Amino acid sequence: MKFSAFGQRASRGSGIENLMDDLGKALSGSGPAPLMLGGGNPAHIPEMEAVWNQRLHEILDDPATLRRTLAIYDPPRGNAAVLTALAGLLRTELGWEVGPENIAVTPGGQTAFHFLFNLFGGKRPDGSPARILLPLMPEYIGYANQGLEEGMFASQRPGISRTAPHRFKYHIDFSNLQVGPDIGAICISRPTNPSGNLVTDEELTRLERLAAGRDIPLIIDNAYGWPFPGIVFSEAKPLWTPHTIHVMSLSKLGLPGTRTAFVVGPPQVASAVSSMMAVTGLANGNFGQSIVGPLFASGEITRLAREIIQPYYRRKRDAALEAVAEFFPADAPYALHESEGALFLWLWLENSKKTSRELYQNLKERGVLVVPGEYFFFGDIAEDWRHRHECLRISFAMDDRDVREGLRIIGSEIAGAF
Ligand SMILES: Cc1ncc(COP(=O)(O)O)c(C=O)c1O
Repeated sequence: MKFSAFGQRASRGSGIENLMDDLGKALSGSGPAPLMLGGGNPAHIPEMEAVWNQRLHEILDDPATLRRTLAIYDPPRGNAAVLTALAGLLRTELGWEVGPENIAVTPGGQTAFHFLFNLFGGKRPDGSPARILLPLMPEYIGYANQGLEEGMFASQRPGISRTAPHRFKYHIDFSNLQVGPDIGAICISRPTNPSGNLVTDEELTRLERLAAGRDIPLIIDNAYGWPFPGIVFSEAKPLWTPHTIHVMSLSKLGLPGTRTAFVVGPPQVASAVSSMMAVTGLANGNFGQSIVGPLFASGEITRLAREIIQPYYRRKRDAALEAVAEFFPADAPYALHESEGALFLWLWLENSKKTSRELYQNLKERGVLVVPGEYFFFGDIAEDWRHRHECLRISFAMDDRDVREGLRIIGSEIAGAF
């Protein structure tokens, strides 16, 4: 049997797949369970688990909703009442002029990006190539293997500024940003996985102007942003214009198992996504939509984001930063990216004697799992750019004691890295 070119590309595995396999094997091995600071799973927040529990009981106790959830295909675009409720929420919370015609449901953000990247990237009808521009590396690894065609991503290095002792921040390097005719869309995660960077309002507006000038979309990945889940620690205004497309997922609210996300964009785009959904999957799963529908309609979802989720992660982020201050050698030239959102600390060991891969291996042997940063640099980024081998992603979403102990061990490893 011979696979197609796409089949070969999609099935040959990826760096991150190998790594996840490695992490999985380490977790199932004998000996004490490693300290898992590597994954992207959201935390299990008791107050949110109580909300899911209550919603599931309400669904069970309402035969019509139960039947709709279990035994009826939704239209491919999603449940009409949920689309209306989300549009209402975006109008009242953010002042966006949107209706259900602007929204389409997908099985998680990952699938939304698969649809959007292949809608705007790849070969155009006239045969010319279109690429997706990722204006600031490092960027979410899950985008990397999504193209139906090879070489779909254009990307570029960030500007780096030192913001405080042991702190830095990435910026979009507009002086080198090329939005040529080969670019079909610009995409950015805000806040960014892995760095915790929050592209500023000004940077976002400049990107939008560039996109509008070329009549291409600016895709904003809202996996951690407002209005939900709201894992944002600095000021950031959401931006809505005829050239923006937002992807909003239920995963980091605490519902990754429901595989539910919403694409919010121009009607033409929402309609295309819903057609792609029909072709690839007929309809979406109903569970996530059934759980959150009433929370969208009442606005309760944004209260939960503001009063439960955001403070929960802020506290965990602060505890992680305190552990870093306590355990990392103050005289070592380590630097953390400003933690402005998402679930991770992004550690840069400039001029370290060991690569991030070597540090990852050493830490794994000492029972701490992190993610070596090189996976988050892809597209046009040269392999020999030293920075891409000098960073580690460390999750602070897990149990506080594990995060603290993991950071203690990372601190002692760093002492020998310079
Ligand atoms: C930045 C970002 N975008 C998208 C996703 C995809 O999430 P999901 O498919 O669970 O919605 C993730 C998951 O970790 C992420 O971190």
